Amino acid sequence: MKIFDLPTPALIADADLIAENMLHMEEILRGKPIRLRPHYKSHKCAALANRQIASGAIGMTCAKLSEAEDLIFSGVGDVLIANQVAEPAKICRLALLAGMCRLTVCIDDIENAKALSRAAAYVGSTIHCLVEYDIGMNRCGLRTAEEYLETARAVTRLPNLRYDGIQAYAGYASHMVSWEERVEATRGNERKVAALADALRASGMEPAVVSGGSTGTAEIKAGGSVYTELQAGSYLFMDSTYRHLDIPFRNSLFVLATAVSCHQDAVILDVGVKGLGADQEDPILLDRAGERIPGRIELNEEHLKLFDSGWHPSVGEKAFVIPGHCCSTVNLYDWLYLYRGDAVAERIPVTARGKSQ
Ligand SMILES: Cc1ncc(COP(=O)(O)O)c(C=O)c1O
Repeated sequence: MKIFDLPTPALIADADLIAENMLHMEEILRGKPIRLRPHYKSHKCAALANRQIASGAIGMTCAKLSEAEDLIFSGVGDVLIANQVAEPAKICRLALLAGMCRLTVCIDDIENAKALSRAAAYVGSTIHCLVEYDIGMNRCGLRTAEEYLETARAVTRLPNLRYDGIQAYAGYASHMVSWEERVEATRGNERKVAALADALRASGMEPAVVSGGSTGTAEIKAGGSVYTELQAGSYLFMDSTYRHLDIPFRNSLFVLATAVSCHQDAVILDVGVKGLGADQEDPILLDRAGERIPGRIELNEEHLKLFDSGWHPSVGEKAFVIPGHCCSTVNLYDWLYLYRGDAVAERIPVTARGKSQ
């Protein structure tokens, strides 16, 4: 089957470019003390997670309990939920899952840790814990080293919990286009986390794991870091937002779309925000030959309107759309088609599609 015969919009990815991106990440981290724990949110395909692990990743990171379930039921044996799980029913599910594999969750609240401990004690499992430190995201995580030490201490004393170390993620540094600014922001964060790790050791709590980092900071962290795990996700697919950075990964993910209405001043494609994550930059259009199509883009619910482009397709002609954000785009599709040349090589279910609880 040819990709151009797929009903559109279709989520497609170049199988060889995915393999190249995986190889580049392996090369960046080879021989370094930091190991890859890829973020699941970027592809949400259990089959791809298992391939990442087969090629050296130590386990997976995910954002949600339902994503963790998806990974664990597909056979992944080491999962980090890089988030807090606060509702009682979810805590019970988490405690049960922790009896099936090595499962780690983030904590920034002592009462939450007590609830996790009670649930794990009841079902007889052990929940691994990273206490989260806020390094400038202003979302989850403890804001000061003092609060951090108090919470970590509490976790070490609670039955059926194991304190493993630190979660600290700084997404704002990931997309800084200037290498110098990215290095400066990342090194500044590293210093904060290293100071916390020293304070933990001085208090008798060894942070065996320090987890965080991204596609944009991978090379910086590989150059020397307090981090032991890299949570990069987008490197496999990339998107138009990451495309600005001078990093060795290439766009492998596209939404194949069809021109459905063609005018002198505009071309209308059959994909809108229900088929393209629109939370970051505008998508980029390529023609069938892979050449960039210029123009101004507007996204409606089901349509992409292209103005001032100089591209004059016939109705029915296809275009490759590089999504603005790969992670929010894959979540909109049931299937990912891997292709080589113009032939579909494999159809992979997006098993964690919509798993946002
Ligand atoms: C907790 C966490 N870790 C890691 C990442 C890195 O992802 P990426 O490599 O796609 O930038 C993210 C991205 O949002 C994240 O939220």
